[in-house]
Amino acid sequence: MVTLACVLLPARGCVLCDPSVVDGLKNLVDSYLPQHLPPKDQEDVIKRLESAVREFQELPIDDQTYMGAVDEPTLHKAAWSFLSDLGHLTSSGVKGDVMVKELFWMIQRQKKRFVDHSAQFLKESYCPNKCGLMLQALIWCKACEKQVHACRKSRDCGERHIEVREMEDMILDCDLNWHQASQGLTSYRFYRVWDNETEELLTEREQPILAKPMVGPKDAGNYRCELGTVTNSPATIIYFHVKVLPKETQEEEPQFMPAPENGVPSTLTTALQEPTTLQEPLDPAAMLKIELIWLLLPGLVVVVCSTGAL
Ligand SMILES: *[C@@H]1O[C@H](CO)[C@@H](O)[C@H](O)[C@H]1NC(C)=O
Repeated sequence: MVTLACVLLPARGCVLCDPSVVDGLKNLVDSYLPQHLPPKDQEDVIKRLESAVREFQELPIDDQTYMGAVDEPTLHKAAWSFLSDLGHLTSSGVKGDVMVKELFWMIQRQKKRFVDHSAQFLKESYCPNKCGLMLQALIWCKACEKQVHACRKSRDCGERHIEVREMEDMILDCDLNWHQASQGLTSYRFYRVWDNETEELLTEREQPILAKPMVGPKDAGNYRCELGTVTNSPATIIYFHVKVLPKETQEEEPQFMPAPENGVPSTLTTALQEPTTLQEPLDPAAMLKIELIWLLLPGLVVVVCSTGAL
């Protein structure tokens, strides 16, 4: 009799890259089939199962629906869906021909659902960076290999115009929402860009924010931040143009202030202009997570293909 190793050895399609799906199918073949199917039918069903499962590897490639790779959350979603469908089948206790029919319907249904999950991934989470370089960890379905994919967009991540009052805090924020999902990042470097086109490195740090308290007129000018990666290309470059405005002088003239006409007291207006509190720094460990090596997912090591008798 054909063992499950033979069923799954040649067939690795994305949902099968999840070890729990392989375990689920193994359980089905080892425990459920023998109790719910006459022995003479089992070999045939296992062979059909093998080819149905292999079709997961041969899904058509299309840039809207499936490109041969998905991210880990998508794989987990698809695996969960597959296993819960399989769980429904086995917990119903269905037998014989009805069971065989339902099993293959279920696999067809899950194939469609996998493509839906993959299409959703391509639409929403594939290369979410609008600029710069993001290194995204993906699982390549054919071989179940985890590999880092470079999402390259326009080098220019924009310019920010910052106005800050003298004696207040200058905050340069280099964070973009996709940074925390990117692999292979190193650190944020902040530079002062002088008019003679030279640059001076001010600081290098894990946190995406440079805060300078009590700025003076000398701090006005141009700055640049650069988020590095383990490759030669930076993940992000942002330019900042900082203007330093004169100090507010409201302490000296409250007696000359007219009563507020629009109902907003002048003290409240200034309070609203106070700099906001600093953002929480990101977890440095997460920032430094580097997975540039090809990683084989565990759990897919299939041992021996026995074609002998039971
Ligand atoms: C460029 O300007 C800065 C600030 O004025 C100065 O410190 C630096 O030495 C200058 N560099 C060159 C090469 O002129």
